Amino acid sequence: MSVQIAPSVISADFLNLGASLGAVERAGADMFHFDVMDGQFVPNITMGPLVLSAIKRQLKVPIDVHLMIVDPDRYLGDFAKAGADILIVHQEAVTHLHRTVAQIHSLGCQAGVALNPATPIAMLEDILEELDTVLVMSVNPGFGGQTFIPRSESKIAALRAMIARRGARARIEVDGGIDPDTAPRVIAAGAQILVAGAAVLGQPDPVAAFERLRAVTTAVGSVGRVGS
Ligand code: DX5
Ligand code: ZN
Repeated sequence: MSVQIAPSVISADFLNLGASLGAVERAGADMFHFDVMDGQFVPNITMGPLVLSAIKRQLKVPIDVHLMIVDPDRYLGDFAKAGADILIVHQEAVTHLHRTVAQIHSLGCQAGVALNPATPIAMLEDILEELDTVLVMSVNPGFGGQTFIPRSESKIAALRAMIARRGARARIEVDGGIDPDTAPRVIAAGAQILVAGAAVLGQPDPVAAFERLRAVTTAVGSVGRVGS
């Protein structure tokens, strides 16, 4: 499968949210990434199920909900009901990760786990086979528009090897500082889904920006990545 792009909603113009997301969806966005922040797990506060259900009514592509909140178990049902297709919790925010992942599946959603930059991939050794997505944070979560942490490349490559070794199905998604310069590097390392905030919906012309990023991912894909 080719590399997918998930524009991040928090970088959008909120006064024109429907029009902005609709234009980028028509330009070919594979899914949208919806960042939920609670002011505790991360220092910022963003949006919740109310906004999710509004955009869900308009969009046709899947919505990937990234929960940067403490004790996410409390809200899984609310976000599933509001239209999440993929629910991603942080390994660092959950005590009983196996139970949380099972709960996400029982709600009819795909399950993802996010790792902060300082969290090793070994933390997923005993849950990997249950996961649909692993989200590698390539910035410290909390804000859009931060600088990509280069160490993320070797982390993605190691995760790719671990997934292949185990025959697991999890897809690798990368989040933070992705733009036309960093995209080829993470794709070469093995990323399959790219979240992009500032580089797409944060640009004055989000459709043109999306097309620039798509051109890069297509070009890199066609020179032959290892695996799919
Ligand atoms: C950061 C969020 C990201 C953010 C990425 O904590 O999880 O999803 O939207 O934004 P950029 O692409 O601007 O780094
Ligand atoms: Zn995110």
